[in-house]
Amino acid sequence: MAAWSLSLSPTVVRIMAEFDLQAYLTQHTELVDAALQTWLPAGDLLPGRLHEAMRYSVFAGGKRLRPVLMMAAAEAVGGRPEQVQHAACAMEMLHTYSLIHDDLPAMDNDDYRRGRLTSHKVYGEAMAILAGDALLTEAFRLLADPRANATVPPATTARVIELVARYAGSRGMVGGQVVDMESEGKTIDQPTLEYIHTHKTGALILASIQVGGLLAGGDDDDLQALTRYGEAVGLAFQIADDILDVVGDQAALGKQVGADQARGKATYPALIGLDAARQRADELCLLALDSLSRFGIESDPLRQIARYIVKRTS
Ligand code: IPE
Ligand code: IPE
Ligand code: MG
Ligand code: MG
Ligand code: MG
Repeated sequence: MAAWSLSLSPTVVRIMAEFDLQAYLTQHTELVDAALQTWLPAGDLLPGRLHEAMRYSVFAGGKRLRPVLMMAAAEAVGGRPEQVQHAACAMEMLHTYSLIHDDLPAMDNDDYRRGRLTSHKVYGEAMAILAGDALLTEAFRLLADPRANATVPPATTARVIELVARYAGSRGMVGGQVVDMESEGKTIDQPTLEYIHTHKTGALILASIQVGGLLAGGDDDDLQALTRYGEAVGLAFQIADDILDVVGDQAALGKQVGADQARGKATYPALIGLDAARQRADELCLLALDSLSRFGIESDPLRQIARYIVKRTS
């Protein structure tokens, strides 16, 4: 046995050897899906078509990356995934709303999402807009729900709500979507592209990670480290999304590929080329791993997820 491993406790060695990302993702996704089933209004509750449309998009088979990142962040600071289950569901509702609206004819005009026809293709544009609106609103209702926050200090609940609103709105995701649209068909510089990516996608990913740390009782230093991690993986995730739009498989992704180039979207491969885009994603992954140095093996899921984000094929 190598000398270095003698200093590790048997528990640490066992956990390191046994960590299985696929099993972790499956287990945590199941936790989120079960909670989403209970928190989302039933499909037959009036107005049935609206609630059906909300459920259609939420249960279409997303990766649940934001909820899983939130739970992994909670674990990294010593908490449990169950502590953040309601907020994880709220982030998935918010993310799903952003996808429904992103796919609308007025925005990216896409026909497929999560392996299914997009919401507006099935329910019509008006219902898709309203399903998105309702998911966004429901997300904030859930973040504020007294039953879900029974053991959370009220000041923390308020901080979480403010934080999510900031990252979801004009200073965050919505702002990024606006500059994304304004940049279609134009040549933009790298700082502008980085603004788009860190806002349209990075913001909700970073918010998920910070909320996980906050609700699980992380201190300021924990939050600072998680923020560096979240900023890096958030940008890396959208660079990987850009790359997959060029080289990915439509069936695996569940959405059309080649759409960015067709629409003249500002992307990393378009601006700096595929190889440089891959290299940038890898650098960000290393940055993310580096930011976790203060945590122990409880942050292994975050480490593995950072690697997965830049290596994924779906
Ligand atoms: C797609 O996000 C939209 C982006 C922000 C790039 P995901 O790739 O996480 O989509 P789902 O949730 O798995 O469908
Ligand atoms: C989506 O970016 C960002 C949001 C939905 C907020 P994209 O437009 O690149 O996402 P996909 O490729 O349609 O999933
Ligand atoms: Mg878009
Ligand atoms: Mg899109
Ligand atoms: Mg994309």
